[in-house]
Amino acid sequence: MNLFKDRQSLKAWMSACRNRGERVGFIPTMGALHAGHLSLVEAAKKQCSRTLVSIFVNPTQFGPGEDFAQYPRTFAADQTLLEEIGCDGVFLPEVATIYPPGGQTSVSVEPLGSQLCGAARPGHFQGVATVVAILFNLVRPHAAYFGLKDYQQFTLIRQMVDDLCMPLEVVGVPTVREADGLALSSRNRYLTDEERARAPALFRALTHAQELYRGGERDPLRLEEEARRLLLASGIENIDYVEVRHGATLIREREISTDPVMLIAVRVGKARLIDNRLL
Ligand code: PAF
Repeated sequence: MNLFKDRQSLKAWMSACRNRGERVGFIPTMGALHAGHLSLVEAAKKQCSRTLVSIFVNPTQFGPGEDFAQYPRTFAADQTLLEEIGCDGVFLPEVATIYPPGGQTSVSVEPLGSQLCGAARPGHFQGVATVVAILFNLVRPHAAYFGLKDYQQFTLIRQMVDDLCMPLEVVGVPTVREADGLALSSRNRYLTDEERARAPALFRALTHAQELYRGGERDPLRLEEEARRLLLASGIENIDYVEVRHGATLIREREISTDPVMLIAVRVGKARLIDNRLL
């Protein structure tokens, strides 16, 4: 597996891939890799002849008081996992490689970036959109793979790629879950045993809403109320949001038109957990 730390070596490898007519699938990550990330690599391997993963804990998407300093950095273990799964390349840049001194440009996708998680984390999605745009421009992949667990992030990146006519395909990959339904996340490791036991309530609340929707319930407020009630009954009291939105645009509708998604964000102990489900 090739390891790139600077722009030049990455670009040289990418040019060689392109000259050979290879299709390159790119998976941007912040490391602390788990089975969810590996499913992105597997999806890329099915559709592309080369796969490249970036590992970069992006400072601009963390707000003051958030977990940038504590965010797990497990580069050696990550590299072993990627090697085992047959990934072709890893890009492991320093902060100055992504953000050289003197940079002035950032990307904001509004109003989507200020809603839902963006309301609780001002500037977060601007940091995400900016780093993903920089990575796309450095790598110039044919396709990029994102987990649908971060549904708002996926929707926002797809919007950015459309708006800025970026020449690549954005692929969403289904969420990987533990046996009890908890979505895999690098932040699950912040949970104590007692908090971990409460966390699957997110999936149960989403499943309950899905059952109601499939049973004919079309009032988003009623679906949200039911999911909220289940969360509270399961000991999850610190609820940031429970919202039903249009599945493609994330626009809030008074009455559900088509393909709705329910999105949930809560705080359990030190961890902020998010999950979602297309109803
Ligand atoms: O989902 C993540 O891990 C990050 O937000 C991303 C897309 C790698 C950008 O830093």
